[in-house]
Amino acid sequence: MNIVIGISGATGTIYAVKLLEMLQPFKEIHSHVIISNWAKKNLEVETHYSLEYLESLATFLYDNRDMGAKVSSGSFLTNGMIIVPCSMKTLAAIANGYSDSLISRAADVMLKEGRKLVICPRETPLSTIHLENMLKLSKMGVAVVPPMPSFYNNPKNIDDVVNHQAMKILDQFGIHVKNDKRWTGLQNQ
Ligand SMILES: Cc1cc2nc3c(=O)[nH]c(=O)nc-3n(C[C@H](O)[C@H](O)[C@H](O)COP(=O)(O)O)c2cc1C
Repeated sequence: MNIVIGISGATGTIYAVKLLEMLQPFKEIHSHVIISNWAKKNLEVETHYSLEYLESLATFLYDNRDMGAKVSSGSFLTNGMIIVPCSMKTLAAIANGYSDSLISRAADVMLKEGRKLVICPRETPLSTIHLENMLKLSKMGVAVVPPMPSFYNNPKNIDDVVNHQAMKILDQFGIHVKNDKRWTGLQNQ
């Protein structure tokens, strides 16, 4: 299985770190990772993880300016793409077919080839432009999965919150990681 993972410059780079960590035991899943410059900056600002560590979690790594990369073409077969977190700028680029980075180009490939695309847009509050861009993509079959913490699972720390969200994103691909915080009914709480 080949999954493209775009990491853009919205706050929440930790979600990408956790998601890639979760994928490590799945040796049959190859991650094709692209990290934007602002994502690199945010990783430094908001986490204790180094860029080298994040990059080491990728099976394949591409420069966001490298339009000649494999994932830039529909003829390279992939099972889909996740953009986590997805900035409003990258969202706008995808919604308008403006492929000026490898992340937006790879997403454009998913749309034109009818492949799975999951975006995790992060901004608050959301403007009408942001909402319209999300609606446009949703109507095209894109899964819009914003990082929104849930509390029914009684998170004890930030890791619990982030892991739950990363689990929800991977669920979209039928990749079901073990997580004892899944909802199992009121009677079991
Ligand atoms: C610390 C920090 C946090 C940011 N958080 C967000 C955010 O949550 N959502 C967003 O859309 N942009 C956010 N931005 C702005 C984006 O990084 C900026 O629009 C950038 O051009 C996105 O480029 P990219 O999509 O190519 O990574 C943030 C920037 C910084 C420096």
